[in-house]
Amino acid sequence: MSRARAAIILAAGQGTRMKSELPKVLHEVGGRPMLDWAIAAAQSVGVGRIIIVTSPQNVAVTEHVAKALGPNATAIQDPPRGTAHAVRAAEAQMSDFDGDVIVLYGDTPFVSPERVEQIFALRAQTGGIVALAFEAANPTGYGRMILANDGSLERIVEQKDASEAERAVKLCNSGVICADSKVLFQLLAQVRDNNAKGEFYLTDVVALGRAAGFKTQIVTGTESDALGVNARAELAAAEAIFQRRARLAAMEAGVTLIDPDTVYFSYDTEIGADTIIEPNVFFGGKVKIGKGAHVHAFCHLDQTEIGDGAAIGPFARFRPGSKLGRKTKIGNFVEVKNATLADGAKASHLSYIGDIDVGPRTNIGAGTIVCNYDGFSKYRSTIGADAFIGSNTALVSPVTIGDRAYTGTGSVITKDVPAGSLGVARARQINLDGWADKNREKKQKAKDEKK
Ligand code: UD1
Ligand code: CA
Repeated sequence: MSRARAAIILAAGQGTRMKSELPKVLHEVGGRPMLDWAIAAAQSVGVGRIIIVTSPQNVAVTEHVAKALGPNATAIQDPPRGTAHAVRAAEAQMSDFDGDVIVLYGDTPFVSPERVEQIFALRAQTGGIVALAFEAANPTGYGRMILANDGSLERIVEQKDASEAERAVKLCNSGVICADSKVLFQLLAQVRDNNAKGEFYLTDVVALGRAAGFKTQIVTGTESDALGVNARAELAAAEAIFQRRARLAAMEAGVTLIDPDTVYFSYDTEIGADTIIEPNVFFGGKVKIGKGAHVHAFCHLDQTEIGDGAAIGPFARFRPGSKLGRKTKIGNFVEVKNATLADGAKASHLSYIGDIDVGPRTNIGAGTIVCNYDGFSKYRSTIGADAFIGSNTALVSPVTIGDRAYTGTGSVITKDVPAGSLGVARARQINLDGWADKNREKKQKAKDEKK
């Protein structure tokens, strides 16, 4: 029988270098808080129990975790006295847990699910303690992995406590460590703070475990598994890594990106094969695009679904709650918000389509505005199938336009238009015969007399 898995995610640091009101671990990479990346990595390999260690100051983290994992998933460390001390803060919540526990960091978004699985698997196979190592281009600041002759992990030494020779080691500690939960807490109880920083180091459990007869070993990951974010520039660097991966993944899934570097994805963007994305497109969260669609340049999409074969943009904006059917078309300078367009519906130019349901094959003329807000409340309108909304129509919501109905160009529609009918609401045109010529003559004469 496979062993139960838990994760303790450390997030008690203040993240002062971010210079932010928002706790560091809630800053987003690819539209998802860094903490949620770590949570997702754990969940994706079957981790059942997850405890987030945070500080009393990080109220927003506690609130966030309550929503994501429930009210008992937070442990408070106060004051922060080192990584071992942080893990111990979760001891009470882990007391009834029997299985393996992995320690992750809340500010290390790219530890991959594959790596986490590899670590749990090795531990299940051989027992003992497994730590995640990586080869650092510049190891300064990291703990160093000191290996025994047989390649096992003898101990981890922190930068500040390391000798000259130890500092030359490039194999570094990512911070990720995995052990049997009961064993981990027994070892943590023995950790002392008699070191350069005067902190309780989690890394000390390696030497302590080894002395107690446990097998201690490493899994070697990549530098990105260990990439920590401490300041805004590192946040941007992490974002760049995410975007590069997301662009490659989209292309591998059959999406054409004409200029990949100018397309920005969210962690949950879904795009079907044979869709073409032109340059300068931004995907906010929860966007799903079907197959064979065409996203023209300079579109901005947020919480929106676009059907197969649809064409959108250039310069179209999709706000939350928009859903377009197959072969729909939204053209330049059209804003869509909380609206549905059934298959084949079109709004090709300069419109605001908000809080409305549009039937199949209906055509919305240039400059149409859905007046959905009266300064106090929002109202919803409906247009049926095969309707034709004349250019520059103002639809004053709530209003219903029936199937096959027309609205006259320039109309301000405040009443329902029945199916198959024409609604016109504008002043009737009158022509004053010869007025323009007479007027021109009169004005010219007056001007000539002044000279
Ligand atoms: C730690 C490791 C080091 C490793 C490095 C990788 C120790 C002693 N050292 O060093 O070997 O190379 O990470 O980045 O573990 N935290 C708390 N409470 C605390 C202290 C830290 O929650 O009391 C959290 C922080 O918010 C952070 C993580 O633990 O997410 C790491 O803490 P940090 O102080 O950055 O550790 P390092 O000194 O960088
Ligand atoms: Ca650090």
